[in-house]
Amino acid sequence: MPNNHLSRRHFAALVAAAPAILSGKQTSSDSATIKIDTDRKIGEIDPKLYGNFIEHLGRCITNGIFDEGNSLSDSSGFRKDVLKAVNTLHVSILRWPGGNFSSNYNWRDGIGSRDERPRRLEMAWGTVEDNRFGTHEFLDYISRIGAEPYICTNLGTGSWDEAQQWVEYVNSDQDTATTRLRRKNGREKPWKVPYWGLGNEMDGPWQMGHRSADDYGKFALEAAKLMHWTDKDIKLIAAGSSLFDTNWIAWNRTVLIHLRNHVDYLSLHMYVGNKDNDYYGFQACTVELAARIKVTEGTIRETLALGPPRKPIYIAWDEWNVWYRARGDGERGRRILEERYNLEDALVVSSFLNTFVNHAHIVKIANMAQLVNVIAPMFTSDKGLFLQTIYYPLQLFATHCHGSALELYVDGPTYKTKTYEAVPYLDISAAYNTDGTLVLNVTNRHRDQALDGVFQLEDKKFAGDFEVYEVNGPDIKAENDFDKTVVQTKQNASVKASGATLKYNFPAHSFTMLKGKLSA
Ligand code: AHR
Repeated sequence: MPNNHLSRRHFAALVAAAPAILSGKQTSSDSATIKIDTDRKIGEIDPKLYGNFIEHLGRCITNGIFDEGNSLSDSSGFRKDVLKAVNTLHVSILRWPGGNFSSNYNWRDGIGSRDERPRRLEMAWGTVEDNRFGTHEFLDYISRIGAEPYICTNLGTGSWDEAQQWVEYVNSDQDTATTRLRRKNGREKPWKVPYWGLGNEMDGPWQMGHRSADDYGKFALEAAKLMHWTDKDIKLIAAGSSLFDTNWIAWNRTVLIHLRNHVDYLSLHMYVGNKDNDYYGFQACTVELAARIKVTEGTIRETLALGPPRKPIYIAWDEWNVWYRARGDGERGRRILEERYNLEDALVVSSFLNTFVNHAHIVKIANMAQLVNVIAPMFTSDKGLFLQTIYYPLQLFATHCHGSALELYVDGPTYKTKTYEAVPYLDISAAYNTDGTLVLNVTNRHRDQALDGVFQLEDKKFAGDFEVYEVNGPDIKAENDFDKTVVQTKQNASVKASGATLKYNFPAHSFTMLKGKLSA
């Protein structure tokens, strides 16, 4: 369980230098100027920035996506209403089976006849795991949602053999005892799962099989070699630091030095919250996210420079969300981590996505944690579901925000928090697609005031109507529930735009996406 403190004074100095892209002067003006040059690209936005995560935890899988015997489920046990909401969310990559759960999971428990699978004590979250949802069920679910599969191996209590044979079972087309077992279990062809995690949060003392960076690096390297010799095409993801204590940069460096020749991604996690009920401090948490990305990019560059040139290593921010209410020490058992979200959480989620887009050159995977019920954008009962507030910004980004991320010049009003001197009220990212579509993502963090954004194109012209999507609600604490949807996406009247300037008045506490075409 990561202890991701939100504000660290020792980090503030570093962060002060961080917003090179989104610069802002402290000013009381209620208007921001945003200059856009479509040639100034940060990088391609990987669709995998809009991923998600399912863990054997609480009601995420069992009684979440998988609810055998419920009249809302299909013959395979998948909840049809959940599946529909997952498909509308356009989940691009799905990580499984954990999380902390993965560190004591033996994949062989989850194959074969469902009724004969062993029930085991589950140590991470204090339940009994019935193993009725395993590798075949996960990959069956993947085929229904059109996402890419990402399997996190057990490098806690697990062995090199277990990790290697899992890749063999899932990806090999050779005739071996392991692939015969797969065929016997009803799957002739390999699935060819491309993404494999080398353990989860291995720096955390809460993790089963927790190790030092050096021990983890050495252990993971041997697993990585065997996994790659089984399938040379798989992409491996190393467990980066999840603690963000004074040792986090050193952990990442040591791990990358061991694994630099085998991994394609370094995994990072971040959970944030508003324990002190400090709205503006909470909204500023993504300043720290941006700083952590920049520092990690530096560590990656440093370790890559320590040997012969090789392909790049990217960041997989493969767990992120707001999570602070449902995380007491007693969070063990079946109905746990059932966080309920409000509008201010949805705004923070939009800022997370802005931050990933603004670092699209280095962050190539991002998984909101998790998909259903457990710190999740959708929430079920036996009889139905509702969409939480945080569903809506993620859905908008996943649906519309593709192409190249653009580097923006932003000069607008800022505010001061306990930690940061100048946090922009308008948090912005932009994407430009080869078909001439521009997407502008704007979070107005101001609680009480609408603010103007004046967008100036340096090299193109606005060409016609811009669609306007707004996520907002009556107040920052507004929540959805089974019988009320007060925070959601509204499509407003389009705005007519021509020439080089577009001005829009962004309502207080809102996320707005503007989408339209540019011409030469
Ligand atoms: O997502 C909940 C938990 O948070 C995951 O199991 C773990 O990786 C992290 O501590």
